[in-house]
Amino acid sequence: MTEERLLNPNPDSDDQQVEKSLRPRSLAEFIGQEKTIDQLKIAIAAAKARSDPLDHTLFYGPPGLGKTSLAGVIASEMGVKIKITSGPAIERAGDLAAVLTNLQKDDILFIDEVHRLNRAVEEVLYPALEDFALDLMVGKGPSARSLRLSLPRFTAIGATTRVALLTSPLRDRFVSVHRLVFYNDDAMREIVARSAGILGMPITNEGALEIGRRARGTPRIANRLLRRVRDYAQVIADGVIDVPVARAALAQLEVDELGLDENDRRLLHAIIDLFNGGPVGLSTLAAALAEEVDAIEDVYEPFLLQLGFLQRTPRGRIATRRAYDHLGITYSEKTSGEDSPQGRLF
Ligand SMILES: Nc1ncnc2c1ncn2[C@@H]1O[C@H](COP(=O)(O)OP(=O)(O)OP(=O)(O)O)[C@@H](O)[C@H]1O
Ligand SMILES: [Mg+2]
Repeated sequence: MTEERLLNPNPDSDDQQVEKSLRPRSLAEFIGQEKTIDQLKIAIAAAKARSDPLDHTLFYGPPGLGKTSLAGVIASEMGVKIKITSGPAIERAGDLAAVLTNLQKDDILFIDEVHRLNRAVEEVLYPALEDFALDLMVGKGPSARSLRLSLPRFTAIGATTRVALLTSPLRDRFVSVHRLVFYNDDAMREIVARSAGILGMPITNEGALEIGRRARGTPRIANRLLRRVRDYAQVIADGVIDVPVARAALAQLEVDELGLDENDRRLLHAIIDLFNGGPVGLSTLAAALAEEVDAIEDVYEPFLLQLGFLQRTPRGRIATRRAYDHLGITYSEKTSGEDSPQGRLF
């Protein structure tokens, strides 16, 4: 069912095509994430003034917030080439050695899903990041010795949705570390308006805000909703996306005014109806919903936590009073352990 993936922040094949045209290409085009952008502006200006490559940089945060886009923006601002790879794509130490020896001075090496590098590959990466050196083992057995090759000075940019899974030696080698956050309504409105402009869709400011507000603070989702609303506007209305059109289209897609869809509501209902509001362990919840644990952690939870609908406690997930209110379920202190998860032990 297409609706099922409507609010999933991970890209599908349609997204990948459209995203190329919608990706911001310069700092000036990049909307929101002010804290990160301000720091990057300084780092880029300083590196350029010294004619040095930029320090190794790590971006982390939920999918669809602009980590890959930022790597491209940095490359174009620095005026350097970018080589793109990912943790799972580099299977053996030799694969990474090949990538590294092909780098030219000042190149950017973008490593997506950097938490998924395996141990042997990481070992090769440490000296490359720290000393721009590649340690090769020559020979076998007792006569084996290591040979150090020097690499051109380059910039590594890592991206991950799971910073906690990064080993600390790897994390420590990224000099500048940025957490991307969900976008506020104003930034989301601007992003929707910008995308609509690029795709040649007429949209009002309020229409853009209406779509942006319901896209879970995630540009990738905003762009996807925009495309669906466009279809609706073309068929039902006269093509212009205004508030009534946006509302009607999103209602038909069952995206509510906070951007929750059927899956989010199902998750909250499960905690409230089946587990008395929680706490319920992640794996128990996943089993009850017939979902993967990873999908719950990566796709549903971050936004529900952000809305304050869900709390993570050592004993499991708890639905908060806000979640009850949103679903129109009466909240009683007894049924939820929100305020004192330990309370019912006594
Ligand atoms: N600040 C922004 N301004 C405008 N559009 C943006 C912005 N950030 C992201 N986008 C849009 O969202 C899409 C997804 O962004 P991007 O691929 O960079 O996210 P990501 O964080 O790398 O996601 P993933 O974790 O899945 O790799 C981009 O193609 C772009 O269209
Ligand atoms: Mg990405």
